[in-house]
Amino acid sequence: MGIGHTRWATHGKPTELNAHPHSSMNAHVVHNGIIENYGELKKEFSENKFLSQTDTEVMVHLFDKFFEETKDSFQAFEKVIESVDGAYAILLITEKDDGKIFFAKKGSPLQIGTEKGEVFFASSDAPLIGLASEAIYLEDNTYGYVTIDEIKVFENGQETTFVKKALATSKFTAQKEGFTFFMEKEIYEQTNVLNDTILGRVDSEKVLFDEIDDDFFVGIEDITICACGTSYHAGLTASYLFGRLAKVKTTVEIASEFRYKDPVLRQNELFVVISQSGETADTLEALKMAKKAGLKTLAICNVDNSSIVRESDATLLTRAGIEKGVASTKAFSAQVTVLWLLALYVGQVKNRISLEDLKKEIKAIGKIKDVTKVDENLRNRIHRLSKRYLHGHGFFFIGRDLFFPLALEGALKLKEISYLHAEGYPSGEMKHGPIALVDSELFTIALMPETLLYDKTRSNVEELSARDSTICAITPTDFDLADDLIKTAKTNHPMLEFFEMMIVVQILSMEISIRLGNDVDMPRNLAKSVTVE
Ligand code: M6R
Repeated sequence: MGIGHTRWATHGKPTELNAHPHSSMNAHVVHNGIIENYGELKKEFSENKFLSQTDTEVMVHLFDKFFEETKDSFQAFEKVIESVDGAYAILLITEKDDGKIFFAKKGSPLQIGTEKGEVFFASSDAPLIGLASEAIYLEDNTYGYVTIDEIKVFENGQETTFVKKALATSKFTAQKEGFTFFMEKEIYEQTNVLNDTILGRVDSEKVLFDEIDDDFFVGIEDITICACGTSYHAGLTASYLFGRLAKVKTTVEIASEFRYKDPVLRQNELFVVISQSGETADTLEALKMAKKAGLKTLAICNVDNSSIVRESDATLLTRAGIEKGVASTKAFSAQVTVLWLLALYVGQVKNRISLEDLKKEIKAIGKIKDVTKVDENLRNRIHRLSKRYLHGHGFFFIGRDLFFPLALEGALKLKEISYLHAEGYPSGEMKHGPIALVDSELFTIALMPETLLYDKTRSNVEELSARDSTICAITPTDFDLADDLIKTAKTNHPMLEFFEMMIVVQILSMEISIRLGNDVDMPRNLAKSVTVE
């Protein structure tokens, strides 16, 4: 029997002392989440009891105290849970009750995997696949204990029932398959992944979603999308698509902001959450708020059975397979693909798109596979160019319309894995402030699609060039003012240009990161899924 937790502490520096498990005389604990009242709780004990700076450690000292009072380990654990506020997935073991693992869940993901003669805990399916055949997805506010023979789940002091669900048996997608990095593999596999994302969801003149009832959009006038990070960028992209293709007003919110702004929620809006992991704490809590307010909810998610999927009224899975690189790539393109399909679907069910336009869009969707295929010449060119972009005092990624969210995403990718300062801007915003930063050491990565507002973007890039910014233009057209030009293939649809340029910015950030000698898959200070706020 053992417990462990591979993440560094949320409080204090990432040192070994602050890493879990934390121990006291009688107990050892691992915890994912934040104990918000730990400062208050700590006051009961003398400061020299604490070895770490974490919020977590207070729980083992509380356990000792309650065990002293009750002489019963389960009662002591229950009292610990009653005392703590915040979000948690907790596992605790004690020498006082050998062979038992105590657990509690609120806000943070926790599930139990079972196999003959073995019991596991994890925060998602991925680590359990191959070890356990069934899983129990614990609900918030449940707690209990397991032994090798029994699983006991409680809520509000009462024992409660649970359901076991079958787990997937294969995890073959989580291998590097000959690539040096997971991120690299995930960039290359997008062409196949996106084919899976689309599979069965279109015919030549219709978008089909088996997961949504025909009347799902009845009464829905507006859409609010809520997400974090890359998923937020996919949401922003979708807001342009929903406006154009379905004539639906769409608001996009960053989940951590949305939660605390006392948002105005109306019954005629659909609340869409986007999340690769399905476990992002802020997105999950925003979803719960929307549900509580009585809104219809839809999740765009990559992980079936995740907390967000379980909480939503309906889900469209992105089918990207397990994404291991912390910097999201294939999950982003799969989210955008599902959202593009969804915009068409809404346009179709609300009769807001002509059959002719719908057919054109579907035809373009059929070409995603081609434009996301990594061309080795392009890769080599980006590899060679990347050596010129390892310094400087910053990067501007700029684009207009659909290419503004892509600029944000490009900048996020670069900063995550290169640790260089990068910002994404709408090209038209330059003269409203950012242009003041421009000199030859400021690198502009200009997204200049031919099919959407080319002339407007071009004149914005000219302004930057006139101030001596080093310009790397990503475009299918020749452009004299570019210091470097990464040429994309010509297409006839802005979304196809979007996907082509997405591949370029993903590879560019990866090549820069490799040259800088960084850990591409596990960048410093970041975690793959952010289950604390
Ligand atoms: O799992 P989620 O999509 O909800 O995660 C949201 C963000 O934490 C995530 O997209 C993050 O920004 C990535 N590291 C970006 O590469």
